[in-house]
This record gives sequence, C-alpha cells and structure tokens, in this order.
Amino acid sequence: MNPDIATALKEVEKRGFLDIEPDPAMDLFAAIERLKREKNAVLLAHYYQEPDIQDVADYIGDSLGLAQTAEKTKADMIVFAGVHFMAETAKILNPSKKVVIPDLKVGCSLSDSCPPPLFKKFKEKHPDHVVVSYINCSAGIKALSDVICTSSNARLMVESFPKEQPIIFAPDRNLGAYINKVTGRNMLLWDGACMVHEIFSFEKITKLKLRHPGAKLIAHPECEEPILKMADFIGSTTGLLKYTQSDSSQEYIVATETGILHQMMKASPQKTFIPAPPNNSCACNDCPHMKLNTLEKLYLCMEYETPEIIMDEDLRLAAKKPIDRMLEISAKAGL
Ligand code: 13P
Ligand code: SF4
Repeated sequence: MNPDIATALKEVEKRGFLDIEPDPAMDLFAAIERLKREKNAVLLAHYYQEPDIQDVADYIGDSLGLAQTAEKTKADMIVFAGVHFMAETAKILNPSKKVVIPDLKVGCSLSDSCPPPLFKKFKEKHPDHVVVSYINCSAGIKALSDVICTSSNARLMVESFPKEQPIIFAPDRNLGAYINKVTGRNMLLWDGACMVHEIFSFEKITKLKLRHPGAKLIAHPECEEPILKMADFIGSTTGLLKYTQSDSSQEYIVATETGILHQMMKASPQKTFIPAPPNNSCACNDCPHMKLNTLEKLYLCMEYETPEIIMDEDLRLAAKKPIDRMLEISAKAGL
C-alpha cells in the first residue's frame, strides 16, 4: 500500500476523515457510482448536503425518511452523507450493515447542547416525567428517552401520551415550544437550540416580505417563535419541499438551511426561492457541520470504507427501543 494512504488510514480516527487527495483528474461522480455497484452500497443524503452530493445520492430525505430507509435497506454498506447522529441512527437500526460517513466529526450544535450526564441528572429530578427526544441527539440521550421524534412526527409522538402525562422534551427548546403551542401541552423543555435556525433575522425577513408581497414564508420548526409566528407554513425539510410543490404561490422565503433550495429549484424551476436572511452578513444559514462533507471525502470513505460508525452493543440496544417506538407509531399513522 502507498505509505501516504497507510498513514492517513491510521489517522482517520484523530482527523475524522481520510486526509488524502483523490486524483484531481478523477470523475468523482462516475467513481462513486462504480463503488456503489461494486460494494452493493446505498448512498443516503440529507437535504442540507451540498448539491453535488444530493445529485449522486440514491435517497435524499428528512431525518424520518432517512431512518426508515436505513432500517429497510438490503445493501451491504450504508454510506451516510449527513451528520453523525443520522449515521449513528442508521447503525442502531441496521447493525449488520457497515455504515460509513465522509467525516466522523460532522456534529450538530443541537445534539451537542445536550450532554448525556447532565441530561441524566435533569431527568432524575423529574421522575414522574416521560422523555420525548428529538432525533438530533446522541445515542446516549436516546437511551435515556421513552420515544424519539423528528420534525415531521413530533406532534404525533407527544400526543401518543395521555394529556395529563408530564413530559420532558429534549433537546430543542424551539421545536418543544412550538409543539407545546399546537398541542396545548406544557412540556418541560431542555434548553438546547440549533445554531443555524436561531440566526434568522425577524427584521430582515419582515422587510423582505414587504419587498416581495406575494412571497410565502416557510420555516423549519427549529426556528425561534417570532419567525414561526409569521410563517405561512411550518414543516420538516420534506414537508417544506412538498409544500412548495403543491402550493400555488410563485415565490417563497425559506427559513431553514440553504441546502434544501437545490431540491426546491429542481422540483419547481419556474418558482423563486429566497433564503431567509440571517441577522449578520455571513452565510450562517449554511450548517457548518453538514457542509464538512465534500464529494472528495464521500468518494474516499466509499473506496476505503472508513470512517465507520462503531457502537457499543448495550448502548445501541438501549437507544433502539425509543426509535422503534417512533417508527411503529409513525407507520400506524401512515408516515
Ligand atoms: P429534518 O428532519 O426536518 O430534515 O431536520 C433535520 C435537521 O437537522 C434540521 O436542522
Ligand atoms: Fe444540527 Fe442545526 Fe446543522 Fe441541523 S442544521 S444538523 S440541527 S446544527
């Protein structure tokens, strides 16, 4: 083996990815397609991935769709172009498959805002509460939860408990507050948030709406309350995409990560999509974690089958229980 590759392979865990340059003349799209065939691999991507990665994926979806697809796949290898908790969920649900990710360090600020030891202490203070956790959390938090939810089924999961049942909702305070509002519940909220969805500027969006009176504001429920209050539609990434396909408006202000615009423009090329402006001048509505994945890293993780998601079996089983419950309730509801 080339000594550079041997050294890079040894350093994968430390760096998070295989730090070598693929041949610059290589057609990465063709190479990825070839590797999919040769290794019987399926490439799953979230909507926040860069357009090139979305274009080469076998399945693009929101967190629920990705978990459902990962659970059912017959492929030998799952290549996960998303953030760590998503690839980890795929491994939890389908442990006999090899799950690789372009960069092991693709974290999530929301997941990071809820460390399991702190959450365990918080939970112990409220022994009469059940725990509903948003899927954007670590396996450690999932293992401490009664049911997992995503942005597309959070209301359903919360309403699967009787109205008088006290609930802790973690880790997203914005999604939790929104579900409290639509269900009339009073869940105890963990104080976590997503760095991308908290950046939108109410003032700038208000001005943008004045300049584009026909434009509808569509928002992800991780956004803060003032943004959700003025939104015409609130939904998961898949929900937002579907809305723009079925709704008759021609213009949308999109309050979520910018990656979703690629599929919106592909599905409705005649419509205009305006990314909701952040409250500063940087491109902060790009998720810095999601965007750590590149086409080069994707090719390399498929070629060398590393970095791989490896899990402690006891933790995996404990984290699987509340995810299974979510998938069962979702399936019954036709989601
Ligand atoms: P979705 O499940 O709506 O795709 O959300 C994932 C996510 O990370 C939003 O920030
Ligand atoms: Fe996490 Fe926010 Fe990035 Fe989604 S957009 S992966 S919640 S940091």
